[in-house]
Amino acid sequence: MRHDMAIRSGLIATATETFTADIGIRDGRIVTIAEEITDADDVIDATGRIVMPGGIEAHCHIAQESGMGIMTSDDYETGSISAAFGGNSCFVPFAAQKTGQSLADTIRTYDDRATAKSVLDWSYHLILTDPTPAVLEELPDVFARGITSFKVFMTYATRVSDAQFLDILSVAGRHGGLTMVHAENHDMLDWMGRRLVDGGNLAPRYHAPSRPALAEEEAINRAVSLARLAEAPLFIVHVSTPGGAEIVAKARANGGRVWAETCPQYLFLTREDLDKPGMEGAKFICSPPLRDTATQEELWRHVQAGTLSLVSSDHAPYRYDDTGKFNAGRDINFRQIANGMPGIEMRLPLLFSEGVVKGRISLNDFVALSSTNAARIYGMLPTKGTLAIGADADIAIWDPNETRIAGEMHDAMDYNPFAGMEITGWPKTVLGRGKRIVEDGDLLATPGAGQFVKRAPIDLTGKARQPVPELDPAHNFNAKL
Ligand code: URP
Ligand code: ZN
Ligand code: ZN
Repeated sequence: MRHDMAIRSGLIATATETFTADIGIRDGRIVTIAEEITDADDVIDATGRIVMPGGIEAHCHIAQESGMGIMTSDDYETGSISAAFGGNSCFVPFAAQKTGQSLADTIRTYDDRATAKSVLDWSYHLILTDPTPAVLEELPDVFARGITSFKVFMTYATRVSDAQFLDILSVAGRHGGLTMVHAENHDMLDWMGRRLVDGGNLAPRYHAPSRPALAEEEAINRAVSLARLAEAPLFIVHVSTPGGAEIVAKARANGGRVWAETCPQYLFLTREDLDKPGMEGAKFICSPPLRDTATQEELWRHVQAGTLSLVSSDHAPYRYDDTGKFNAGRDINFRQIANGMPGIEMRLPLLFSEGVVKGRISLNDFVALSSTNAARIYGMLPTKGTLAIGADADIAIWDPNETRIAGEMHDAMDYNPFAGMEITGWPKTVLGRGKRIVEDGDLLATPGAGQFVKRAPIDLTGKARQPVPELDPAHNFNAKL
């Protein structure tokens, strides 16, 4: 059998195995994994390199208005290019509904923003901000179109009430949708924020105490309970506290259909970064806020234990200028500074360097956390997220020994919160469906090369239901529900 391309002599790593072999690609898919492939038109010599599934970035904000109405600096072109230079071959940004907007119109808006621009294959998670009965009726159609996950907020102006959350979860649970949630208790944050500002504590560093760990823990506990009552699967985004992770761990140990992620900023940065001179701390304002070094160690423990299935960037790029962080002006308090920081290109090098190179996680764990688990949770396996016969040839080839000091990235940002860190291990070549996207520092794909990925519903096989007694006819006097 002739191959369009062969990747020869690399160390192949999947989420479960590591072995040396050649990979043969035809028509954009992996068709051969063998000791030796000699009949390819195009050969990449991967001797001394690691060959992995391309990363899947499952939490990023691209060409999206924030809750404060600020447009991200990255569009689908710069965002996907930056993601590719960071070892990703697929990403799943958000398509955010505006108040009063139908879901069909929301998706159309984002199709216009993504198509012809993305160098990566992409899908969307919807963001639901206005869950009217008509909008909830639209949800099953959205799932049928292959957009099988969506996010709600428990804080910000775009938050949903518990009653709305239950209605949403219930529809999602019945129709194969996965609800993602930003879990922080809004009133606790608002109360703390007002107290701090009223006390004259205005600088960026006060963002950290304004969003106590307790607010995340309370909201995660509530979200898990609501999802259990509604009998729906749940994904907790950007877990930043050990207490929150413990709640997830307990729910998972009890068979709950709950998944969660953390992000590089909670593993590699601390609230001390918010206390930089002048307004520099604004660069590190994200929500939930940065915590401390003890928290970092605890979160690593939960990454290792499998409580946290993904390490996602939560790339939310707002520049350190009047278009971004200071959109509300310069004479402002920490509550008026845009929330979010970039990281789409740094996520995988950071996780490889600090995780694999420093011995905190195995190479196979790295693949799981960076790609395979996202493909599994968000309905893209076996096409994406693994190296197997028939899978898309979405492949990242890494030099595990190259050491660089992190600096400027390929995004549209004017700062990198991880700048100055020494990172060992960088992706050298990234393929999307068998075509080079980046190689040795050059961009080889053209905008529009990416395709929309239609996703399946989350597979709940082996995830026991945890019926709430009051929903059981034997315990509720045969109530009609
Ligand atoms: O501060 C952050 N993370 N901004 C992006 C929006 C969100 O909450 O994920
Ligand atoms: Zn969030
Ligand atoms: Zn986010």
